[in-house]
Amino acid sequence: MTVFKKHVFVCVTGKTCPLQGSTELVDKMKDLVRDYGLKKEMRVNKAGCLGQCGSGPMVVVYPEAVWYAFVQTADAEEIVRSHLVEDRPVERLIYKPEPKK
Ligand code: FES
Repeated sequence: MTVFKKHVFVCVTGKTCPLQGSTELVDKMKDLVRDYGLKKEMRVNKAGCLGQCGSGPMVVVYPEAVWYAFVQTADAEEIVRSHLVEDRPVERLIYKPEPKK
């Protein structure tokens, strides 16, 4: 068994992300990884709350630890193509949390 080249986690069981479309998003991302023929080297997993409720759907991609916020199902293709296939994170979707006061 090999380690995945990239591993995507989508919050689907927290209090807010599921209400913001994360269930549809994770299904779409899984379909795209399959369609791009990446299933052996990349994985999309359903995740619990990622601790950033209200900014979802939240997605994090490892090993880069790139966090995405407010990701819509329509954004899934861009993340898979640009980040997973071309290794170029999608700047416009990268999470920019409020600085702690
Ligand atoms: S509900 Fe998704 S980060 Fe908490």
